[in-house]
Amino acid sequence: MNLKKYLRARQKVIDRALDRYLPKTSTKPVTLHKAMRYSLFAGGKRLRPILCLAAAEACRGNVDTALPLACAVECIHTYSLVHDDLPSMDNDDFRRGRPTCHKVFGDGIAVLAGDALLTIAFEIVSNAKPALRYDISILLREIAVAAGSRKLIAGQVADLEAEGKRVKRDQLRFIHENKTAAMLKSSMRLGAMSANADARKLSAITQFGEQLGLAFQVIDDILDVTQTSEILGKSAGKDVAAKKATYPAVIGLEKSRGEARRLTRQAHDALSVFQEGDAEALHALANYLLEREY
Ligand code: IPE
Ligand code: IPE
Ligand code: MG
Ligand code: MG
Ligand code: MG
Repeated sequence: MNLKKYLRARQKVIDRALDRYLPKTSTKPVTLHKAMRYSLFAGGKRLRPILCLAAAEACRGNVDTALPLACAVECIHTYSLVHDDLPSMDNDDFRRGRPTCHKVFGDGIAVLAGDALLTIAFEIVSNAKPALRYDISILLREIAVAAGSRKLIAGQVADLEAEGKRVKRDQLRFIHENKTAAMLKSSMRLGAMSANADARKLSAITQFGEQLGLAFQVIDDILDVTQTSEILGKSAGKDVAAKKATYPAVIGLEKSRGEARRLTRQAHDALSVFQEGDAEALHALANYLLEREY
């Protein structure tokens, strides 16, 4: 498959759907809706929604059915970035190739834009078509738990509390599993659920998502030390400056690369239950995430 073309096509489908779901910039309060759209349409890679759609297809579902769920996870992800960048968190000026939300709109509006992006995700999920095995309450619960105080937010708390401290491998893994892997995994589980996946396939997608999600944050940590801000579209070198608990800081760069490769291999292995061809896109995406430059 031509992955570049595939990614571009999927980004377009997702962007068009997000545009339909988000209030226009002329809707009151205008500043808030401008801020929400400013961050959402700043040119993110859309990896979580793309993985959601690819998981749906691996389970022989279709893109249209999974699309509201894909859009919902991108809204949650974008909210998490807007808040992550705030001066009281990672204090970042640059995101998705442009000044961060709070730099343009001020801290107050950025906090509220994040709140609104998180909330609209649940409104968008209400548009999803339930599958035979998974009703709307199951889909809502999946996304609420992954974004909640025991997963994404737990990871963000641990990330903040680990700043400047010596952390052990298991604490580092806790941070990465929760702040990043949980939402990535749920993105794919939601795609599989929209396709009415049976227990065996849902479990395979879950394993795949866990390993890939962890690999994703290890690679993010590596890129922070090896890449330029221009290519990343966000400020490089900030983890060392903020004394963050990262894989390169704890186990070194070369071991981190090995860890990313090992996790990616395990992700591939988890897909063995799928028939030849069904999981082609998921395999290709896993390889792409390992090789990515931003
Ligand atoms: C960045 O995620 C934040 C992490 C969880 C590492 P992405 O690298 O997917 O950022 P965008 O969505 O492309 O901007
Ligand atoms: C971000 O981790 C995790 C979430 C936003 C939930 P980072 O703080 O490493 O992400 P970047 O590097 O700022 O994108
Ligand atoms: Mg952070
Ligand atoms: Mg950050
Ligand atoms: Mg990072």
